[in-house]
Amino acid sequence: MAKLGGTDIEIYPLVLGTNTFGWTTPEPDAHAVLDAFAAAGGNLIDTADSYSAWIEGNSGGESETVIGTWLAKNRDKNVLVATKVSQHPEFKGLAGPNVRAAADASLKRLGVEAIDLYYAHFDDADTPLEETVAAFDQLVTEGKVRHIGISNYSPERLREWLDITERTGAARPVALQPKYSLVSRAAFEPGLRDIAVAENLSGLPYHVLASGFLTGKYRTEDDLAQSVRGGAVAKHLNPSGLAIVDKLDQIARARGVAIASVALAWARTRPGIAAPIAGAREVDQLAPLLASAELELTADEADELTALSDFIGA
Ligand SMILES: NC(=O)c1ccc[n+]([C@@H]2O[C@H](COP(=O)([O-])OP(=O)(O)OC[C@H]3O[C@@H](n4cnc5c(N)ncnc54)[C@H](OP(=O)(O)O)[C@@H]3O)[C@@H](O)[C@H]2O)c1
Repeated sequence: MAKLGGTDIEIYPLVLGTNTFGWTTPEPDAHAVLDAFAAAGGNLIDTADSYSAWIEGNSGGESETVIGTWLAKNRDKNVLVATKVSQHPEFKGLAGPNVRAAADASLKRLGVEAIDLYYAHFDDADTPLEETVAAFDQLVTEGKVRHIGISNYSPERLREWLDITERTGAARPVALQPKYSLVSRAAFEPGLRDIAVAENLSGLPYHVLASGFLTGKYRTEDDLAQSVRGGAVAKHLNPSGLAIVDKLDQIARARGVAIASVALAWARTRPGIAAPIAGAREVDQLAPLLASAELELTADEADELTALSDFIGA
């Protein structure tokens, strides 16, 4: 178990992603996934106020609502929730009043008194960063947010955020949520990684399964039709991407585990990473993700994967 930033909170080595909840995962299936995740010892769920506004008929907040109905029946499980602000159609950006209004809306949907980890989802160049930092700080002071996280910021803007907290005494972030996987390393390494390590920020990356590509289920163009996520996977179907899947496959066979478990365990070995995020559309997909929490790769296995992915861009 890794500690969350400089806090005393121990997090299970897998964070559950939930952007399929209210999209390709209906509520009963979502609750089954949450039941299995909590039963295995999982204790941090990742959502955002905007999930899943991209679906026709949805308005955003569907994932939080589904999590809220589960939390209402499972208070004793002590599962923590991370959510995010800036992308909900009604609460765009990171201006102070918007951050406060969005947080209130998330608290209501989740049915909790405080958000355990509240992320700035994407940078907002139109709002002075001082204003955003002050808004997050105020939420912490009011007890509506326990800890602050930052997602998809450049290293320069993260550094600016940290400088503002040092200057003003505002609450410091404890977590980063970058895009990061064996087929996408440039957003995190080296800039954000170096700051995460130096400043004791927990890296909790998304994209670690590359939307399913690093489960090994996509090897040809024909395979892309099996999911709505196939479109996002197409760009990885090239010799370099497939060589990584082959190496994952080889390690997975030797260790008697699934390919997805190896991809997640690799991410956990990387400097600056506390725990990977991964999503399961249905409960059957969850077992290999949970198994990654028990899998310790050898240094050679991890190095072979790292070397194969060294060319990888964003
Ligand atoms: N901060 C951000 O900007 C941001 C952006 C994106 C995501 N996220 C977070 O990260 C989470 C993960 O999202 P992601 O886009 O990075 O997805 P991912 O975890 O890379 O991939 C999840 C998908 O992989 C497939 N999968 C998972 N386990 C599998 C298994 N055992 N066998 C076969 N396929 C399996 C499923 O796809 P199918 O449903 O197609 O089978 C599942 O929906 C999200 O839920 C969200 O919480 C954050």
